[in-house]
Amino acid sequence: MTRASLDKQPHEVATMFDDVAANYDRTNDVLSLGQARLWRKEVAKAVDARPAQKVLDLAAGTATSSLPFAATGAYVVPCDFSTGMLKVGKGRHPHLPFTAGDATKLPFKDDTFDAVTISFGLRNVQDTDTALRELFRVTRPGGRVVICEFSQPTWKPFRTVYSEYLMRALPPVATAVSSNPDAYVYLAESIRAWPDQPALAARLQQAGWSKVAWRNLTGGVVALHRGYKPQ
Ligand SMILES: C[S@@+](CC[C@H](N)C(=O)[O-])C[C@H]1O[C@@H](n2cnc3c(N)ncnc32)[C@H](O)[C@@H]1O
Repeated sequence: MTRASLDKQPHEVATMFDDVAANYDRTNDVLSLGQARLWRKEVAKAVDARPAQKVLDLAAGTATSSLPFAATGAYVVPCDFSTGMLKVGKGRHPHLPFTAGDATKLPFKDDTFDAVTISFGLRNVQDTDTALRELFRVTRPGGRVVICEFSQPTWKPFRTVYSEYLMRALPPVATAVSSNPDAYVYLAESIRAWPDQPALAARLQQAGWSKVAWRNLTGGVVALHRGYKPQ
């Protein structure tokens, strides 16, 4: 069983997700205390995919995050570099055009997508800034990005309780429900080391995105960042 470390070596991250692929979605539901479904609905609203639009769901894993976009009639490309996650996804959703690809070197032409999005994936990419620039490159001028990622609860007392949950309760719960509990130690550590809302917004701007804004979900446990590629 593999657990990535905070230097996020791509082969370690990919192998770690290969290992958890079979039970990934069930474990997510349990560990997020059911919130994951609510967060996905909010991502779908923010992306606002329309029929025939092209949407890239990067780090799509098993494509659970891609389904709400596909349901609108948009053409959704789930892309990921874990062959284990892609295989489980393809078995469940054979109609979706799963694509193997690394976030830091996307296998798409410039200006391809109307919208690009990444849910719970950016934090796992070794080079965040290169991934943000790659997302920018493959988006058409006027197109949009939506990033859904764990963030910092804004109310201090809640932030303390949440931090305790991450470091103390999450690992034993993960041992009970996951095939690779160590992966969830990495999850807790990587969330704590991740930039807060304003810091991630600044990174988006540096990558070229304009009109960058964010919205907190569940008190800031998750944040949705949005930006546009200038026309
Ligand atoms: C926590 S899962 C999220 C899956 C899905 N988006 C969801 O919301 O359920 C993170 C995914 O990011 C993928 N990933 C991490 N680094 C990546 C990279 N550099 N390129 C492509 N995918 C990557 C992993 O393989 C994994 O499937």
